[in-house]
Amino acid sequence: MILTLAHTKGGVGKSTLAWHLAHSIGHGTTVIDLDFQQTIKYLNLMGGEPLNVIQPQTSEELITILQNIPSTQIVIIDVGGFDAAINRTAIEYSDLVVIPISDSVTEVIGFETFKDILSEIGSHAEVCMVLNNVHPLARNFKDIEQAVYGTGFRILKNIIRSRKIYRTTMGDGKSVYHGAIDGTARSEISGLKYELISPTRC
Ligand SMILES: Nc1ncnc2c1ncn2[C@@H]1O[C@H](COP(=O)(O)OP(=O)(O)OP(=O)(O)O)[C@@H](O)[C@H]1O
Ligand SMILES: [Mg+2]
Repeated sequence: MILTLAHTKGGVGKSTLAWHLAHSIGHGTTVIDLDFQQTIKYLNLMGGEPLNVIQPQTSEELITILQNIPSTQIVIIDVGGFDAAINRTAIEYSDLVVIPISDSVTEVIGFETFKDILSEIGSHAEVCMVLNNVHPLARNFKDIEQAVYGTGFRILKNIIRSRKIYRTTMGDGKSVYHGAIDGTARSEISGLKYELISPTRC
């Protein structure tokens, strides 16, 4: 299964979710880091909890890797926050595209541009939106529901709230699954993982 965290808008949480989700899935997960900032590659080098990370340089190289992934394996692709041919290829070849979005107005506007890009790509992937980095008490996501209305995209039930622990663990090259960490963040990521990889997803 090929799962891409995607959005042309920067800073929405693609790398954060790719990192913690990959650790949540654990053994045998491969992460493909397509971001020129190489966030996942550098986090991995910090030695906390290394993941299997690959960095193809061209669309052709990416396609070859994806075509040789066994169907039982889960691959998580972290794309950069910009529009590029290799990012479009990742989306085209994905089974599932996950778009992190918060409830801020600028993100809802940014999503409109990305919607156009997705329809240009015309991928067969299922597209899901995950609310990320939202205030722990926020309950009203009407603006996002409105922006998604009519697209066929699904807003995932699991919400990842704004929590310092997502940042601080990554700062040490670790994830929310490492050590004695407040279980709330861990259960948010685990909930998201099960919602994404469950066979009854669609
Ligand atoms: N749920 C969250 N709680 C707290 N901080 C978060 C959360 N999600 C993301 N962040 C923070 O927001 C910032 C941007 O996140 P991240 O780098 O994952 O975004 P991105 O979409 O990968 O950005 P880019 O497009 O530049 O690659 C980081 O400082 C990260 O720690
Ligand atoms: Mg990133």
